[in-house]
Order: sequence, then structure tokens, then C-alpha cells
Amino acid sequence: MRCHGSDKITNEGKSLMKAIWYEKPGKASEVLKYGEQQKPAPRPGEVLVRVEYSAVHPSDVKKRAGLQPAGFEDGFVIPHSDGSGTIEDVGTGVEDRRGERVWLYQAQYGRHCGSCAEYITVPSGMAPRLPDNADFSIGACIGIPVMTAYRCVHVAGNPADRVVLVTGASGRVGFYAVQWAKLANARVIATAGTVENCQVALDAGADWVLNYREGDLAQRIFECAGSGGVDHIVDVEFGQNARVSAEVLNNCGTIATYSSSRDPEPLIPFYPMMFKNVSVHTVLVYNMPDVAKQQAINAVNDAFSGRKLKHRISAVFHLAETAKAHELIESGAAAGCVLIRTSGEPD
Ligand SMILES: NC(=O)c1ccc[n+]([C@@H]2O[C@H](COP(=O)([O-])OP(=O)(O)OC[C@H]3O[C@@H](n4cnc5c(N)ncnc54)[C@H](OP(=O)(O)O)[C@@H]3O)[C@@H](O)[C@H]2O)c1
Repeated sequence: MRCHGSDKITNEGKSLMKAIWYEKPGKASEVLKYGEQQKPAPRPGEVLVRVEYSAVHPSDVKKRAGLQPAGFEDGFVIPHSDGSGTIEDVGTGVEDRRGERVWLYQAQYGRHCGSCAEYITVPSGMAPRLPDNADFSIGACIGIPVMTAYRCVHVAGNPADRVVLVTGASGRVGFYAVQWAKLANARVIATAGTVENCQVALDAGADWVLNYREGDLAQRIFECAGSGGVDHIVDVEFGQNARVSAEVLNNCGTIATYSSSRDPEPLIPFYPMMFKNVSVHTVLVYNMPDVAKQQAINAVNDAFSGRKLKHRISAVFHLAETAKAHELIESGAAAGCVLIRTSGEPD
């Protein structure tokens, strides 16, 4: 078997690595296979990374389940976009980065071989340096949630001194969105659905936290924001929240939304939004503009140097237990990042 794209695995090489892969979509326990694959070699412009941790996110799980295209042209997919590790080799045209600790993003976007293996090759730019003060486990948490959150907070302009509402603030993305908004000097109202999750949003630094399941949410948001209302919303459930969003936004208010999974084809309150000149920015982290990716990477570097971001790791599984990690994400019960340890033996 081989992967095509820039991460090519051929049958010619002799080295093998432990990996997880699937050959068709389906239930995690039925389609995820644990075994050996050819260890890849870096092509021009690429680095070979010995992976320490691979992260599991909802989009990885949706691809494996067949809800999003995964790409089976070469017969199999090694899952997961995010991860961390150490550069072991470089392809031609890449400066000597051997020994550098890195975090990985988008490793399985438009590619067949993701981070759920002992080794991966990626274009050098998709392996930013992981500062010495950051553990590999933290490095694996960054890609999708941190970059999505950064884009959502900043896509409509500088949020300094503005009122930003972050819905789902205890979620993987929302937790970082609260922190990015506070680092940018916004005043942050956060929503979450349980007492515990409200505490998580407070720990992230939100100025006000509201349980979105209780009472008149719009009225309570105005009590926090004042009569001027909210300037910008970072939204986890666009469809479910659209009416409240339209109500609490001020004139020329903005929404940056990265999901509408519970109501994928929502009825939009068009006139309540139009009468306020509301702009909606949809965000997909994978293909957001390159400049936005670089801004997020720069902000991550800066945050690491000052230890400015808090992180939450919900569970760590061994490579052989990857199906359980997918099931945990599917259950919705994972409070933070779910990681796969790619080396060592299962407990
Ligand atoms: N577009 C992109 O680039 C992108 C990037 C990352 C993720 N996503 C997608 O975004 C979604 C969330 O990802 P995640 O990893 O952050 O998931 P997560 O950790 O499960 O967080 C989702 C949070 O949403 C909250 N929530 C659900 N309905 C809500 C509502 N109506 N109002 C306020 N909060 C609500 C839940 O809070 P409670 O449990 O407290 O109710 C939960 O904590 C997934 O569908 C994922 O695929 C998209």
C-alpha cells in the first residue's frame, strides 16, 4: 500500500513504523486498524517527524465515520491533523532542522497520511518550532483548536475594548477563543451549558459567564454588555444561536462561526440581522488564508514565550487504543484535548 500526495509511502523502503489506518469509513472499533506501515521518507521541501503525540478532533472523527471526505484514492488513510514530535530528517531544499521539537497542523488535510503513526512527513512549514518550555502534549493541542479560535477572534478586526461573546466557551475551540479575546483586551462574555463548564470558562478568563440553558439568555447578555450590546460573537452553534445573536449584536456587529452541527441548514433571521448590518464570517481553519495561518502561528509563538495560554488535556490513549479515543470524542464527554501517545507500550 502507499500514500500519494506529498507524504508518499512506498513498498520499496524496508523501515516499518507502527500506525493506525482505515481503508473505508465506518465505526471506529470496526475500521481502525493497528499495525505496521512503511516508514515514510521526506521528499523535497518536507521534514520527517518522529511523532510523540497525535491529537483527535471532531473533524478527524467525522472523516473516519464518512461524514466528511477522507480520500481513499490509494486505499487507506492514516488519520489526524494535529500532533507534535521531533524532526529526524529533512528533504532537499530544507535547512537542517534535525533535532528540532515541533508541533504539527493540517497533517491530514488533502493528504492521506496523518499524525496517528510513529512517523510522518509534512512540508517544513507545517511543522512550526515548539518552544523548549512547552511539553509535547501541549504541542499536540495547538493546531485545530488554537488556530481556529485565533482566527474567529480576529477575523472581523482588532477586538480591543470591544464586547466579545464566546459561545461554548468550555469547548476545545471556545476555551482558547476566550483566552485570545482576553489577550487582545476585549471584554468577554462566555456561555456554557453546565455549572462545571461555566467554571472552565471563568478559568479561561471570561469577565462574565452565563449558562445558555437557563432563563432569557439575550436579556442576561445585555445585563453584562450594557445597552450597547455585543460587538463580535465567536459562535460554536450558528443555527441554534442565530436568533439570540441577532438580538444581542449592536449595529455593524459581527459573527465568526466555525460550526453549526446541531442545525446544519438553519433558518436565518435575515431582517433582524440586516437591520443591524450584521456580518457573518464562516471560518474553516484548514483553508483560511495563509496570512491568517501565519498570524495564528506568530501569536502561538508569542503566547508560548510568555506562557500566556492555558491548556486542557482530557485523556491520553496509547496508539493501539485510538478507537477508544475516537469514541470519547464522539460521546461529547471529552473536556479538553484528546491525545494519542504514539510511542511506548499500552498500559
Ligand atoms: N470550522 C473549523 O475550522 C472548525 C475547527 C474546529 C472545530 N470545528 C467544529 O466545531 C465544533 C466544536 O468543536 P470543539 O472541538 O470545540 O467541540 P467541543 O469541545 O465538544 O465543544 C463544543 C461546546 O459547544 C457547547 N455548545 C453546544 N451547543 C451550544 C449552544 N447552543 N450554545 C453555546 N454552547 C454550545 C458545548 O457546551 P456544553 O457542553 O457546556 O453545552 C461544548 O462545550 C465541532 O462540530 C467541530 O467539528 C470546526
